[in-house]
Amino acid sequence: MPIDFLYPTPFYYSSVDDYSGVKEEVDLLVDNSDFDYHPEWGNNHKLSDTTFSQNPVIYMEKTRTEIQTHIGRYLQGIKFHQSLEYTGSANYTIVSSWLSQFDKGEYAHVHSHAHHEISGVYYHQVKGDQGQFFVESPVPQMTSSFVFNHMSQSLKISPTPGMLLLFPGYLYHGVYANQTDDVRISLSFNVSFQKPYFS
Ligand SMILES: [Fe+2]
Repeated sequence: MPIDFLYPTPFYYSSVDDYSGVKEEVDLLVDNSDFDYHPEWGNNHKLSDTTFSQNPVIYMEKTRTEIQTHIGRYLQGIKFHQSLEYTGSANYTIVSSWLSQFDKGEYAHVHSHAHHEISGVYYHQVKGDQGQFFVESPVPQMTSSFVFNHMSQSLKISPTPGMLLLFPGYLYHGVYANQTDDVRISLSFNVSFQKPYFS
């Protein structure tokens, strides 16, 4: 069929390989975190670090290694070596990481992490209808097109414990409200690449 589906959005789904090791580290981080609402976001959900300055995965070897393994698979899947910017290796850093806690009725606004090449989330404590993660089409014009709207509907994901997602930082996403009495906790992170022309 002579149709090219141009400009795809690479969205990565997986589960951590070492679930018990990662769970142990994230449990410890949860216990040592003082969750609070971001002062400028309203009371939609709590964060382990409202300044985004602590980057705890630096000290969480199993979790960091796991994230790096999946980033490697993601880069392989998108054929990063074919990037016009590729210089023979992937020089990247997990520059920020934090926990998000959603109590009953709490959610996350649609937003992006556009300053970062790759963003990701790991689901630590989720069950039942605790709010789907959703992704908006990067081509919003298609959503109102009579012919093409079915190709640009929001992607909705019901997370399960141990699930790990990676996606381009520019992709708009959010979280529907937690409908349960149980707390939902996830670990988010951003990845930036060292760009040879800036070094
Ligand atoms: Fe986000």
